[in-house]
Amino acid sequence: MSLASQVMLRATTKTQRRPHSPPDHRGIPRPFLKWVGGKGQLLSQLWPHLPESFERYHEPFLGGGALFFALRPRRAFLSDVNRELIDCYTAVRDSIDEVIEALRMHRYEQEHYYEVRAQNPFMLSPPERAARTIFLNRTGFNGLYRVNRSGQFNVPFGRYTNPLICDEANLRACSRVLQDAELRVQDFTLAADRMLPGDFAYFDPPYVPVSSTANFTAYSPDGFNANDQIRLARVFGRLVERGVHSLLSNADVPALRQLYAPFPAATLQATRAVNCDTSRRGKVNEILVLGRPVAPGAVLRRSVRLAAQ
Ligand SMILES: C[S@@+](CC[C@H](N)C(=O)[O-])C[C@H]1O[C@@H](n2cnc3c(N)ncnc32)[C@H](O)[C@@H]1O
Repeated sequence: MSLASQVMLRATTKTQRRPHSPPDHRGIPRPFLKWVGGKGQLLSQLWPHLPESFERYHEPFLGGGALFFALRPRRAFLSDVNRELIDCYTAVRDSIDEVIEALRMHRYEQEHYYEVRAQNPFMLSPPERAARTIFLNRTGFNGLYRVNRSGQFNVPFGRYTNPLICDEANLRACSRVLQDAELRVQDFTLAADRMLPGDFAYFDPPYVPVSSTANFTAYSPDGFNANDQIRLARVFGRLVERGVHSLLSNADVPALRQLYAPFPAATLQATRAVNCDTSRRGKVNEILVLGRPVAPGAVLRRSVRLAAQ
């Protein structure tokens, strides 16, 4: 983006103050998709670390978007590499009536689930595709998103008691809050290019595995490897230097602490399925890296250390 258009954008954006406390995570709008690593249960722990005020909000690893829906920012830039996910958000934003109508055609039955799963999503209209994504998410095993090597969704049918497939009030509330959001399918580095001083960015990437059996990288066919984590740490350092208030969540493992050593961090406690066996849930620590912009000299010293990693 040219400097002139950045200045124009800045002139048209109003500073936003965050609410003092997070909304009830069961209130609306709340995420309309269940997402591995969703931040709904951590909102009250995240909240004290959010900036008091900011210009625009960025969430480059959108997933279920729990923080976005809690914060309801006036101007938001939301992105993810998962096209199915972003197309679903776009349809909820732009064609909510049609999405709801298409969602009402679905029912919680194993045979129907496998028929819908076998459909080629690209043969469907955008609202029908979004309804398919929401239906599979709400009735598939554990709300997982997993695709095979050829990109076909392959999560088995889930066992629930009467799952709510079409939560109309929440979907409409989500659609309203998405009206002022820009949605893109893109890698986080492209999202970072659009961040300006005074903005707030929340990074919630696929986590570093906490054990050899935990597979937290299976979000998309591309995965997210150690190089991506290093790439992200560099982007994070540059953004803080640029004056973007940046926060980043990840698993609390020594490699991560080392990667972000120049920055202060808070420890949050989450209840998660900690390996492939989702019945084995436990308390796990997560790290929240606090990238608050500080005086230029101090930032320079920090970034030199980060670059030396
Ligand atoms: C931990 S989830 C985000 C959870 C989200 N904060 C929530 O509350 O539900 C991580 C997301 O990062 C996305 N992702 C993976 N690699 C990416 C990349 N290189 N750039 C942007 N997004 C990526 C995945 O598709 C996934 O949706």
